Amino acid sequence: MPILIRGGTIVTADAERVADIFAEQETITRIESSIDPRSVPAKTEIIDATGHLVFPGFIDPHVHIHLPFMGTNAADNHDTATRAALAGGTTTIIEMICPGPSDEPRDSFKTWYDLAAASAHCDFTFHQSVVRFDALAREQLRELVQSRGVASFKVFLAYKGALDLSDHDLLGLMEMAKELGVIVTAHCENADAVAFMQAKLIAAGCTSTHFHEPSRPVAVEADGVHHLCTFASLTGAHVYIVHTSCHEALTQAQEARDRGVRVWIEAVVPHLIFDKTAAERPDFEGAKYIMSPPLRDASNIDCLWNAIARRDVSTIGTDHAPFHFHTQKVLGKSAFTAIPNGIGSIQERVDLLFTFGVCAGRIDRRTLVDAASTQPAKIFGLFPKKGTIAVGSDADLVVYDPNHRGQFSRNTSLSALDYNAYEGMECRGRSHIVTLRGRVVARDGQYIGGDGGGQYLPRTPTHF
Ligand code: URP
Ligand code: ZN
Ligand code: ZN
Repeated sequence: MPILIRGGTIVTADAERVADIFAEQETITRIESSIDPRSVPAKTEIIDATGHLVFPGFIDPHVHIHLPFMGTNAADNHDTATRAALAGGTTTIIEMICPGPSDEPRDSFKTWYDLAAASAHCDFTFHQSVVRFDALAREQLRELVQSRGVASFKVFLAYKGALDLSDHDLLGLMEMAKELGVIVTAHCENADAVAFMQAKLIAAGCTSTHFHEPSRPVAVEADGVHHLCTFASLTGAHVYIVHTSCHEALTQAQEARDRGVRVWIEAVVPHLIFDKTAAERPDFEGAKYIMSPPLRDASNIDCLWNAIARRDVSTIGTDHAPFHFHTQKVLGKSAFTAIPNGIGSIQERVDLLFTFGVCAGRIDRRTLVDAASTQPAKIFGLFPKKGTIAVGSDADLVVYDPNHRGQFSRNTSLSALDYNAYEGMECRGRSHIVTLRGRVVARDGQYIGGDGGGQYLPRTPTHF
């Protein structure tokens, strides 16, 4: 059904204006100061957006849904996670395909694709993680780029023995990525240093959640960023640093930029909201806040927000990686090293950024749109179909109520996770209506979009 959204303040990455939007056949076809309802088909659904903001559908560039990891599986599936995404204003997700060390790339792509295609409610695409780089993997990775629309790889410098690549293979992969125009996204922590620090702490009896951050200090992350950027300068590959958590890592990326490395920086919401004391909460509550890189000293929070405001940090994702508190985080009760790493935020991201970013005066609304929609689309080959409000773009729209007041809570979350890391925190704003390609799929925090409906977004590499 066509839709007409009237009287809202349209916010894009570089402008704001009050205007009406008309969309039909999944696409925005008119944006005008005032569209006469008599000029649109009689069956058009008319949405009054007076007093509301109208954002382009948000894009989460870093989520994990199907995630076999640390001896368990993440708590959501594509049904629960994408209901939650849409209720929170996220209309497109980029999920990390994380295969096991001996899995073939083609098989892992198929596994993740089939799961998402069967039940995702929002649009989706993938970063293909590379955990092996033998001849067979090389051949299959090329095929995924050339015929399945993969345009970004993911590498882990961390998680020794599980997901990390040798330096030799990392260089080979980056050389191939440059040739194919594929951007290499990377989790940057020195895996050997983490393993060394963890072993030392555990041997000394330091087993509680307090020791997660000291086991992977800022220097370990900064070293990872420097390492990746050195390899980027050797190969010419374009790189994207995921979940950058601290001043030291930011500095390494910025210095590499100054040397001519093509590097983009991502922040994720937990690092913008919490400091390391969250992971020190008593009675094992701290386990809810164990992720990697870890939550940091509080000084890093302003440092990250300032870099977002300057647009030095390009994107803000979630790193949604939900593990239940009662049945999964407890795996690490006797040693923090066994706590499944990750925090869920797929539904909360936009409201957290609005509350703690825009309402707190740290960023303006255009920067919110830029970091959480436009830049993910531009960097990952989805723009201008996604990531903006323009004639010809998909009608993925968020009519946002900036006057809503509420609290983040497990009770209002559509994720399957058995806790909400943001429980009880004030929420100042909410997606009133969310459309996915012109169809209303969420209203006031409820998913109303029916079964399925998410489409795979094949991409063409652009990072030559
Ligand atoms: O702690 C995290 N970040 N868990 C998910 C896996 C990853 O490293 O992104
Ligand atoms: Zn990671
Ligand atoms: Zn991640």
